[in-house]
Amino acid sequence: MVEPIVVDEEYRKEIEMARRELGVFITNNKCAPLMLQFAWNDAATYDAKSRRGGPNGSIRLRIGQELKHEANKGLENAVQYCEIVKTKLKLKKVSYADLYQVSGAVAVEVTKGPTIDFVPGRKDSNESPRTEGRFIDGEEDARNLRKIFSRMGLSDEQDIVALCGGHTLIRTMYPKGETHKDRSKFEEGKSTNKPLKFDNSYFKELLSKDASFSRLPMDYALVEDPKFHHCVERYAKDEEIFFKEYAISHGKLSELGFNLNNLDQPKGPYAKLNQHKGLIGIGIASVVVTVILGYLLKRKKNQLKN
Ligand code: HEM
Repeated sequence: MVEPIVVDEEYRKEIEMARRELGVFITNNKCAPLMLQFAWNDAATYDAKSRRGGPNGSIRLRIGQELKHEANKGLENAVQYCEIVKTKLKLKKVSYADLYQVSGAVAVEVTKGPTIDFVPGRKDSNESPRTEGRFIDGEEDARNLRKIFSRMGLSDEQDIVALCGGHTLIRTMYPKGETHKDRSKFEEGKSTNKPLKFDNSYFKELLSKDASFSRLPMDYALVEDPKFHHCVERYAKDEEIFFKEYAISHGKLSELGFNLNNLDQPKGPYAKLNQHKGLIGIGIASVVVTVILGYLLKRKKNQLKN
């Protein structure tokens, strides 16, 4: 279990600045798929039994050490993008772990997906987890998918299928129009029609008979396993339900290993605003109580004098 760090007003301010800047950066560079996969890969090393790994920024170390590993191919660009934002904004407090998870949440939001609740406070790890058994490469069947997500403590079919819906952003053009052929497993074809739009098209396409869509073995697993299939159908039919459940599962994923709920801090994208409202409320209440007490005291004094 990684202990959370102290999140003060200044820290929250930095998170807000990062959130805004990443929104612009990700939109301009059309790199939402990369940043979402990056945030997922950092979190996906979590091991619920040992409570090690998870969204702790250690992917920046793994990339150095495991650059050649299929699962992290190309993700060094994402490390670099976050560094660019950190340097530009002169961020001093925000951890890499938080920055990476903010970038994943922003990637979903700027592609018109649901808003993801974000609670800051992840501590960076300087230790690369023993990841070999924790790498994921898309060759997984239904049994392996369950095994991977259970290892992270996310064993509900709903969490698994909703999160795999992140693949709605798979396959896109990269800055200056290059494709990411260098790191793609797909020889040709496409995964979704609109890779820069977060919607339920991934599920619709999984159920379609259109052979022009590239598929990973895990995609077949989602369709062939009856319990997964049920969720795929639900999400293909109703985008609102997918968005609602995806946002919850994404929140869980980005908080793996962190007991953020125990922190005395507001939750949600507008937490800061609400916190201010709360403080203003307390301030007003204190003034009112002081004025009333002063008035009562003065009245009592006058009564005694008379
Ligand atoms: C066990 C589950 C998962 C497996 C096996 C898996 C596997 C993969 C593979 C093999 C690719 C590369 C596809 C290619 O060659 O172009 C990929 C891309 C991607 N994955 Fe996953 N993934 C999983 C779960 C997730 C989750 C939960 C998310 C996000 C919530 C996610 C987000 C992405 C995104 C956005 C891309 C596209 C990256 C890009 O096009 O630049 N994946 N995934």
